[in-house]
Amino acid sequence: AVVSVSEALSGRLSEGTEVSVRGWVRTRRDSKAGLSFVNISDGSCFHPIQVVAPADLGNYETEVKRLTSGCAVVATGTLTPSQGQGQAFELQATEIEVVGWVDDPETYPIQPKAHSLEFLREVAHLRPRTNLFGAVTRIRHCLSQAVHRFFHENGYYWISTPIITTSDAEGAGQMFRVSTLDMANLPRTDKGEVDFSRDFFGKETFLTVSGQLNVEAYCLSLSKVYTFGPTFRAENSNTTRHLAEFWMVEPEIAFADLAEDANVAEAFLKYLFKAVLEERGDDMAFIAERVQKDAITRLQAFIDAPFERIDYTEAVSLLQKSGHKFDFPVEWGLDLQTEHERWLTEQHVGRPVVVMNYPEHIKAFYMRLNDDGRTVAAMDVLAPGIGEIIGGSQREERLDILDKRMAQFGLDPAHYGWYRDFRRYGTVPHAGFGLGFERLVVYVCGLANIRDAIAYPRAPGNAEF
Ligand code: 4AD
Ligand code: MG
Repeated sequence: AVVSVSEALSGRLSEGTEVSVRGWVRTRRDSKAGLSFVNISDGSCFHPIQVVAPADLGNYETEVKRLTSGCAVVATGTLTPSQGQGQAFELQATEIEVVGWVDDPETYPIQPKAHSLEFLREVAHLRPRTNLFGAVTRIRHCLSQAVHRFFHENGYYWISTPIITTSDAEGAGQMFRVSTLDMANLPRTDKGEVDFSRDFFGKETFLTVSGQLNVEAYCLSLSKVYTFGPTFRAENSNTTRHLAEFWMVEPEIAFADLAEDANVAEAFLKYLFKAVLEERGDDMAFIAERVQKDAITRLQAFIDAPFERIDYTEAVSLLQKSGHKFDFPVEWGLDLQTEHERWLTEQHVGRPVVVMNYPEHIKAFYMRLNDDGRTVAAMDVLAPGIGEIIGGSQREERLDILDKRMAQFGLDPAHYGWYRDFRRYGTVPHAGFGLGFERLVVYVCGLANIRDAIAYPRAPGNAEF
C-alpha cells in the first residue's frame, strides 16, 4: 500500500509490512558495503524516511546512484527496524522508481546545507522544501486548525467577511484601492476628480484592513462570532513585524466588556500554544534545536502564567521610572512603541501583558469612551520578544458618542450609515479583538522576520511569486 512517510514512521505499522512511499530525495549516501541510503521526505512530518537501496536493484547503477537532492521517487519495500536512533523504522527497498529528475543538480537552489533566510526569500517558491519552512508550514496549519476548534468548542460561529469594501475599518487611511478603471484614461467628474461612479462597483472600493465592522453585525444577532481571513494594509513600514497582506482572527462577543474580552484573548492564546506543543512535537523540537533554544519552555511558561493586566497610564509611569534609555519618548498621550512594549513584557514581568485603557485620541473611532472622557476601553496583548500580538476593544455602543468620535476623526457618517444602524436597533455592549496570525506564527516559531511566517510575503516593493 502507498503510505505517507508520517504513517510509515508512526510505529502503527508492524515490522515487515510492505509499503510504498512517495516523495523527494533529501540526501543520498553510498556506503562502501555497496548499498545506498536515500532519505526521502514527503512533508507529512518533520523527519524523512531512510530508504536502504541495495546494489542488486535493477536501476542501482544507472539511476539510484545518480539521485540528488530534490529528485522525486517512489520507493517500495519492507519496513525494518532502524539502526539509527530516533526512528522506529527504515525502508528496505525492493524497487525505487524515479518520477522526476532534477535538471541541473549543481545549480539547484535548495542544496542539503543551511541557507540564509534572506536567500530563501528570493526563492520563496522553493523554500517549502527546506526543513525550516516545512516545520513553519505544519505549525501554521496546526495553529489555524486550533483557531477554528477553539471557537467551535466555545460556541462561536465563523463569519466570512468581505475582502472588497468601501469602508476603512480602522480609519487610518492605509487602504489599497481596487479598481477596474483604465489608468491611462481615467474618467473625471466636472470637478476634475476621478469618477468612481463609472468603476466596477459604482463606488470607490478598497481591500479590507479588518473584518471587524462586518463581523459586528453578526455578533449583534448570533452573539458569539469570529472572522478569520486575509487583511491588507498599505502601511509604508518596511519592518520585520509588518506585512502588506496578513491574516487576522477577529472574534466579536455580544454583551461583553473589556475585562471579558481580555479573558477570552488569554484563554485563546493558551489554547493555541497547547495545541502546538501537543500536535507538533517533531517540528518544535527542530525549532528548539536550530532556531530558538527555549522555544518549547517559553510556550509552556506562557501557558502556565496568568497574563499581567495593567492600565496604559500605569505602563507609562513604569516606563518613565525604568531608568531605561528608549529611542522614542514616553509620555502620557503618546502611543507605545515596540521597544516600550518589549520592555514591559521582558524586563518588567517577563510574561505576557495586557495593556488596557489607552488615550482616546491614539486609538480607533469605534472604541468605547471610558467615563474619564480621556481614555477608551482598548487593549493590546503584548508577547515577550515581539510586542503587540493582539489589539482589541469594547465597542462604542452609544450612537451619540460614536457620532462625536467619527466627527473628531474626520470620518464621513454617510460612509458608515449601516454601522450606525447597530447603535439604533437593539444596541448592546460588545467587544472583540484581532490577532495578527503571522505575528503568532513568528512568536511560536521564534522567527526574526514576519516574512518567514507566511508562504508568499507581501511588503513594500515586494510582490513576486
Ligand atoms: O490592532 P489592529 O489594527 O486591530 C484591528 O484591526 C481591530 N479591528 C481588531 C479587532 O478589534 N477586531 O490589528 C490587530 C492585530 C495587531 O495586534 C497585529 O498583531 C496585527 O493585527 N497586525 C499586523 N500584522 C502584520 N502586519 C501588519 N501590517 C499588521 N497590522 C496589524
Ligand atoms: Mg493595534
